[in-house]
Amino acid sequence: MKNILILAGLALFMVSCGSKKAAPVASKQANETTKAVALTPELEAGKSLYENNCAKCHKLFEPKKFTKEEWTPILVKMGKKAKLDETQMASITNYIDSQL
Ligand code: HEC
Repeated sequence: MKNILILAGLALFMVSCGSKKAAPVASKQANETTKAVALTPELEAGKSLYENNCAKCHKLFEPKKFTKEEWTPILVKMGKKAKLDETQMASITNYIDSQL
């Protein structure tokens, strides 16, 4: 385990030294784009449930604004507020998880 961490650290170090400043940002964007394109029909359904039910009382929150641990109790509470059933909440939860 420790070795993996050291390797990861080294890799990061080499990446940050070896390339221009813009590179890490660019690769992050590429990652997000890939994720967005890779949404399955199930995740698309979760996304639209989220967009249609969770912005009635407040703006939509970026999934990345909270960690998975933080989302769990929020989603329980908000599921009740939005009057969604378990299936719908599972779908929204899967979508949010896919964006973290
Ligand atoms: C009936 C109104 C209502 C609906 C519908 C609603 N919310 Fe909320 N939401 C609130 C209120 C009020 C707060 C702030 C106070 C609180 O936490 O109860 C809030 C806060 C939040 C927060 C911030 C929590 C924090 O700890 O900062 C998140 C994230 C959130 N809602 C997500 C959702 C999601 C996801 C859905 C859809 C399943 C949803 N909300 C639907 C009323 C609503």
